[in-house]
Amino acid sequence: MVTRRSIVKASLALPFASWALAGCDASRRPAVSAWSEGMYLSGNYAPVDIEVTATDLPVTGKIPEELVGRYLRNGPNPLGDVDPASHHWFTGDGMVHGIRLDGGRAEWYRNRWVRNERIVGELGEAVGGRVLGGTPNTNVIGHAGRTWALVESGPAPVEMSYELDTIGVSKGWPGYTAHPKIDPDTGELHAIAYDWANLRDHVKYLVIDRNAQLKKSLDIPLGGMPMIHDMSLTKQYVVIYDLPVTVSLLDVARGLQFPFRWDPDHGARIGLLPRTGTPDDIIWSSLPAQYAYHPMNAYEDDRGNVVIDIVRYDRMFDADRLGPFGDSEPRLARWTVNPSARTVAEDRIDDRPQEFPRCHPALNSKPYQFGYTLGAQDLAYTSIIKHDMKTGASDIFSLGEGHHGGEAYFVPRQGAQSEDDGYLMSIVYIESARRSDLVIFDARDPARDALARVHLPARVPYGFHGNWVPDAA
Ligand SMILES: [Fe+2]
Repeated sequence: MVTRRSIVKASLALPFASWALAGCDASRRPAVSAWSEGMYLSGNYAPVDIEVTATDLPVTGKIPEELVGRYLRNGPNPLGDVDPASHHWFTGDGMVHGIRLDGGRAEWYRNRWVRNERIVGELGEAVGGRVLGGTPNTNVIGHAGRTWALVESGPAPVEMSYELDTIGVSKGWPGYTAHPKIDPDTGELHAIAYDWANLRDHVKYLVIDRNAQLKKSLDIPLGGMPMIHDMSLTKQYVVIYDLPVTVSLLDVARGLQFPFRWDPDHGARIGLLPRTGTPDDIIWSSLPAQYAYHPMNAYEDDRGNVVIDIVRYDRMFDADRLGPFGDSEPRLARWTVNPSARTVAEDRIDDRPQEFPRCHPALNSKPYQFGYTLGAQDLAYTSIIKHDMKTGASDIFSLGEGHHGGEAYFVPRQGAQSEDDGYLMSIVYIESARRSDLVIFDARDPARDALARVHLPARVPYGFHGNWVPDAA
């Protein structure tokens, strides 16, 4: 069944920040040649304007029967018209896409806007007792048997039902982040989050327990207002990325929708907060000015160094103020932090453009061998790269001509015999058909054709992060 909802023009919501919309400084030209104004609203960046429910999806190949649960992915999907000259990719209304698998069948596909009061109004729905807040657009996770949509700067996360209907803003959670890190040994979520009410001088370190209750909140003083998108966890430390993209108070005063900009004078440093320590215990180490959104993983080596594998950029939000890709290309690097010397050594792992690094979910914060990224070419996502972080070798999962992937999520196989014994899931856009597939690969064998392609009845726009949420969890 396909349901078309009436869409009316709407003023742009502000899920990322509570500043008003205004014009954008276009006085500088972005450096990446494939960039163009409006690119974050064109091609497969363009939003879809319908919500779809489809059941018994057609499949090519064979879905592993052990996969029982949902693959969920969040991304920006502005409802109503927006101005290409000022629209920032990070600010679109959140839309969660979900595919349920069960016993070899693809039972359903759903896509749903994450409701706030404006979206409910535009869609002509009743609030129905829900407590509505933002429309988180960046990540969607399963935790404590529940489903949560997340964004870097939001209020509390928004809880969604199993079928992706919006339940409402989570009670008892503070303002949150898109990228909590799960401790695989305790099931707790660790996060670095803004404190919007007191933004200018600190962030918060938060721990949510396995029952979705706030267990710890610690203020981390900072100089200025850096953009902190993600964090890392190791056995001993919480890793804080204090990098030179900061809130521009001038842009705030101008009413800019997305007031973060490149600020090399801020400096770049990595903080190691002992898990049970205080802010006075943080070990800060400087590194050359650069920016990073996403670590692949971090861990301590046998010499006590903290090894961080991360996708980094030379510059961010300098000339391109509408999205992340115009100023420089994302490349995979290793930062090795020596806590005793307070130094950071950088090694380039792979200079091909790539983003959205992931690893085996049970090895987060621990030594590991394999990581997976989404390879990019001319700002389109053309391959999945499998990295052997021990040997430096890499392999390519080719997606096919005119096929463009999304973040690849690794699901270990039951009874796995090796770290890479499992499945890679990615939502792949098929340019010629203007729709998408959920593609499942054998992670051990990049040369092998996909195990299964679940044919979705709709296009899934390029977005951000996804996760496999097994029913058993
Ligand atoms: Fe992210």
